[in-house]
Formats: sequence, C-alpha cells, structure tokens
Amino acid sequence: MYKQNYLSKISYKKEIVPGIFDMRVVCKEIAQQAKPGQFLNIKCCEGLTAILRRPISICDIDTKNQEIRFIFQVKGNGTKLLALKKVGDNIDILGPLGNGYYINDQYTNPLLVGGGIGVFPLLMLIKSISSQNSTVYLGFKNKEMVVLEKDFHKVCSNLQIATDDGSYGHKGYVTQLMEKKLQKDPVDIVYACGPEPMLRLVNNTCKKYNIPCQISLEQRMGCGIGACLVCACKIKTTQDWEYKHVCKDGPVFWGNEVIFDD
Ligand SMILES: Cc1cc2nc3c(=O)[nH]c(=O)nc-3n(C[C@H](O)[C@H](O)[C@H](O)COP(=O)(O)OP(=O)(O)OC[C@H]3O[C@@H](n4cnc5c(N)ncnc54)[C@H](O)[C@@H]3O)c2cc1C
Ligand code: FES
Repeated sequence: MYKQNYLSKISYKKEIVPGIFDMRVVCKEIAQQAKPGQFLNIKCCEGLTAILRRPISICDIDTKNQEIRFIFQVKGNGTKLLALKKVGDNIDILGPLGNGYYINDQYTNPLLVGGGIGVFPLLMLIKSISSQNSTVYLGFKNKEMVVLEKDFHKVCSNLQIATDDGSYGHKGYVTQLMEKKLQKDPVDIVYACGPEPMLRLVNNTCKKYNIPCQISLEQRMGCGIGACLVCACKIKTTQDWEYKHVCKDGPVFWGNEVIFDD
C-alpha cells in the first residue's frame, strides 16, 4: 500500500532522562490510522547528513488533539539531529508503517514485557487492550533510565519495574519477573519489545510454558516500506524458512515464527 509522508509540526519536546526525548507532533492522518506496534520513519534533517529516515515507534496517540507521541534515545547522527529540533519546527514523517501487535478480546490475561527503548510502543498497546487484568513488566539499566512509569501506572495497576543493577524495583532482568509469574500464574499471551537478547529469552520462556507471544523486532532500516532489503529477518515457513522484511511484514511477529541468528 502507498505510504504517505507528512510535514508535521512539533507541539511538545522534553528531555525526560539524559539523552531520551519525548516528542509530540500534530498529524491528523497518522493519529487516525495508527495501531499499537506501528512505527514512523522520520527524516531527522534536511540536506545530506543523516539523509536516511530513522524508524521510531509510535508511543501514544491523542486523537482529540490529533497528536502522535514518540520517544527516542540519542544514539548517532540521526537522533542527535532530531533532538535539536524545537517546538514549532516541522518534521517530515512517513507512517504509520509496519504491522503492529495482534489484539483480540479472547486474550483476557495478557502480559506485556518491555526493555529499554522497547517500552515505548507498549504504552499505546496497553491503552488499546480492553482487559483490566493486564500485567506490565518494564526493564531498565538503572534508576536514572526509568521512563514512563507514571504513564503506565495510570492505565495498569499490575506494573513492575526491574533494573539491571537493582537501583530501582526488582534487581535483575525483566525476564526473571516474567519467569516467576509464569511459574505460578499463567497468562494467555505475551507481548514484548526490547533488545534482541531479551526477546530471545522471552521467546524461549514462552515456548517452555506453551504461551503464544508477539515480539517486535528491531533492525537497521533504510526505506521502511519494503523496497531496499536492509531489514531482512528469517521467518519459519511450513517446510523451511524465508527472509521477510521487518519494516513491512513486521516489526511485530509471532515469536514461534522468528529464527534468531546464532
Ligand atoms: C521498528 C523500530 C522502532 C524503533 N523505535 C524506537 C523508539 O521508539 N525509540 C528509540 O529510541 N529508538 C527506536 N528504534 C531504534 C532507532 O531507530 C535507532 O536508534 C536509530 O535509527 C539510530 O539512528 P542514529 O542515526 O541516531 O544512529 P546511527 O548512527 O545510525 O547508529 C548508532 C548506533 O545505533 C545502532 N542502530 C542504528 N539503528 C538501529 C536499529 N534500527 N536497531 C538497533 N540498533 C540500531 C547502530 O548499530 C549504531 O551502533 C527503533 C527501531 C526500529 C527498527
Ligand atoms: S527498510 Fe527497506 S526493505 Fe525494510
């Protein structure tokens, strides 16, 4: 399907923890269409530097004000330039892109697991799930990097935070919280987004407890629309496996389809 880019005005910008920016832009079209787990491909500047767009998840939508919220961590040139933009500037965004999370009312007891910058798309997801019985586990490096706790608390009473160094919440990985829960209290689906090692663990744990899981893969991207093959990932077929595009076929896949490279 043809994907449209929009010149959208920045309506809000705040550095919420060092190097992580919360940004909102006004774009009626994307705000009306976006689904949890989809992303934007953002032109970080005009001209030759960082000419490629950068993929950033949609974190939340405010349909009343026609705003899209996304949160990004400064990593390299592209995100550094994006962080220099000011409220009132226009940015060129392409979206909503990709296939988001599969949501179905049959799942009455879902578990959401996010790690680092992977927590962002889970906010829109938890807001879109009708079940009052959802659980959310979020993992961060340390207390300083904990973000969106209040936002998640507003919409979910079963929220737990883990930090790698134990400076806040559970000491250790968020996957340990997950394993502990599944041992005594099975859920009917797991939704996850985070770094690849975390996703592998989530996937293996879900396999062990025979629980379906939906995972959002992160991959370097070029076009974001299935035209350049930069974002290939291996997906199982009935007989063997094939390459799929993370940007177009994903970024969300069923965990049992994904083949992680060794
Ligand atoms: C579907 C999707 C959704 C994403 N959502 C978010 C989000 O909500 N918030 C956020 O902060 N980041 C998100 N990312 C990651 C973000 O796209 C990269 O951090 C960004 O493109 C880096 O661009 P840069 O020019 O600043 O850095 P570059 O100079 O391009 O790279 C800097 C470093 O980041 C690594 N890197 C670059 N792109 C990626 C990538 N796509 N995945 C993993 N590592 C990468 C490079 O290997 C390098 O080490 C998402 C990525 C994908 C694929
Ligand atoms: S980023 Fe170009 S095909 Fe996926």
